[in-house]
Amino acid sequence: MELFKAMEQRHSVRSYEDRPLEPEVRAELTGFLAQCNQESGLHMQLVLDESEGFWGFLAHYGKFSGVKNYIALVGKKSAQLDETCGYYGEKVVLKAQQMGLNTCWVALTYKKVKSAFQTAPGEKLGLVIAIGYGTDQGVPHVSKAPEAVMETEGPAPDWFQRGVQAALLAPTAMNQQKFKFTLRGDAVAAKAGMGFYTKVDLGIVKYHFELGAGTDHFRWAD
Ligand SMILES: Cc1cc2nc3c(=O)[nH]c(=O)nc-3n(C[C@H](O)[C@H](O)[C@H](O)COP(=O)(O)O)c2cc1C
Repeated sequence: MELFKAMEQRHSVRSYEDRPLEPEVRAELTGFLAQCNQESGLHMQLVLDESEGFWGFLAHYGKFSGVKNYIALVGKKSAQLDETCGYYGEKVVLKAQQMGLNTCWVALTYKKVKSAFQTAPGEKLGLVIAIGYGTDQGVPHVSKAPEAVMETEGPAPDWFQRGVQAALLAPTAMNQQKFKFTLRGDAVAAKAGMGFYTKVDLGIVKYHFELGAGTDHFRWAD
């Protein structure tokens, strides 16, 4: 499956089948996580057969059922950590979608089970991504209009519009879509709005924007 298709087909899934990840699926995911960790300096980990994190009031409140596997997004504490988790976590999410798996980003409605993942000195757990075989494929979210999240000096080039469309397909905390892409010359500035986890959202939507626009067309503004 192409990454663009994966972006279109991905929706948050909160209900999972009682079906373990096959050894080859685990191996492929673990390999992909290792590659992303090497590139980013993150310490993302695949947590398998651990249902305590998604058991009890918070998970029930978040309408989760059958979650037994998740990805722990761990990294060195820094001002950049949230955005880096967003960018690389979404890479993993779209890779999982391509592999026929379902996912849901989870910042609030789970319980931290400290024995389930490792944190080296100076590291912390940012958030998690539930992963597995969904009992459904989720539903498309309500989306803002492109004009509400973009700004250009003149008419928006096609590649820029494709980038914005791709960003609007991305998951954001509480579907808030509080981000803005501004084009000046060949530089694109991506800014997060105020709100919960908007820096994580920013990393996620920047990855989608790159996939939609194509990285040859622009550079990120400093
Ligand atoms: C950073 C982040 C945190 C999230 N936290 C939660 C959460 O704690 N509980 C939950 O049920 N969904 C959570 N979500 C999922 C969002 O509610 C979901 O992505 C959004 O409503 C858009 O829907 P979609 O993912 O189906 O496109 C989170 C998503 C993101 C990106």
